[in-house]
Amino acid sequence: MTSDAARDIEASLSTLAERVRESFRTAKTEPELRAANAVVLGKKGELTAVLKRLGEAPAAERRAIGERVNGVKKDVERAFEERLAELHRAVRDADLNRAPFDLSLPGRRPAPRGHLHPLTLVKNEVLDIFQSLGFVVAGGPEVELEANNFTKLGFPPDHPATDMQDSFWVTVRGGVPDARVLLRTHTSNVQSREMTRRKPPMAVVSGGTVYRRDDEDASHSPMFHQIEGFLVDEKVSFADLRGVLTAFAERLYGRKVAVRFRPSYFPFVEPGAELDVECVFCTDQTKTGCRVCKSTRFIEVLGAGMIHPQVFEACGIDPERYTGFAFGVGVERLALIRYGIPDIRMLFENDPRFLGQF
Ligand code: PHE
Repeated sequence: MTSDAARDIEASLSTLAERVRESFRTAKTEPELRAANAVVLGKKGELTAVLKRLGEAPAAERRAIGERVNGVKKDVERAFEERLAELHRAVRDADLNRAPFDLSLPGRRPAPRGHLHPLTLVKNEVLDIFQSLGFVVAGGPEVELEANNFTKLGFPPDHPATDMQDSFWVTVRGGVPDARVLLRTHTSNVQSREMTRRKPPMAVVSGGTVYRRDDEDASHSPMFHQIEGFLVDEKVSFADLRGVLTAFAERLYGRKVAVRFRPSYFPFVEPGAELDVECVFCTDQTKTGCRVCKSTRFIEVLGAGMIHPQVFEACGIDPERYTGFAFGVGVERLALIRYGIPDIRMLFENDPRFLGQF
């Protein structure tokens, strides 16, 4: 004779195992399976509820019913483990069957490494050439006193020559009263500084950035680069200047090269000259005319001359005893020549397709 409680329990258990298997089979993922499992075995699960009712059964039947419930519980647990293993296997098989990696795809390249800008490369090369000729390298500031940039070099205040190099004037807050300051218009400020600082004999070079307002056409930039050199000793002549600059041009080109001196004017030299070197862009095949040298066969690369006695005086050097020469080279021009770059603007556009070629 079985009790009501026992009959109720048996009624829920009889279909439970089958229903649970079915719900486990329909679970397609592990979380779904775990949710289905909780419906049966969780705190509020169906089987948990049956277990709680065990106490209602008469003592004599309790043991048998307990075994029956436990048996069902084991069935459910086994069904859960089996389905879980099936789902894990399915995930792994899907992974293994996925299309394999395409080994022919190009690899990811590391970002290209940078290098020095062509202007810096040329500047370093020129400084090296002059060092090998016995010059020492000096530096100078880009923000400069009017005295070092103009006055000591023989530009009187408001002299029309200062118009030649229309300047960027700088206001220095809390600076020395009446000291006029500007962005240097040429590297010749290093001449005034070093000649004031050193005692002759001296041979100095210096390279750097200079600034002028003249941007009247596309071939002029308000910022460009120069290399300054000067030599002071007893009995220095224009022939020495010519010899040094010719040696420089030939080392730069790596061969004998035509150079041409033309008379020119700079307030801090007398006599003054400009040096042109052979154009590398126009060959005999150039029929249409050379854009770079405008078919003159020569490119102007530097200003030069014998240092003016007044400049020596302004810097504390005895002009009766010493003579010297000075020159200022345009680095952009040299870069065009050195690398065969046809347009100066390419140096400032920062196009990696261009810069990557150096
Ligand atoms: N400083 C001059 C310029 O910028 C170049 C120069 C330097 C000329 C030294 C003569 C001597 O144009």
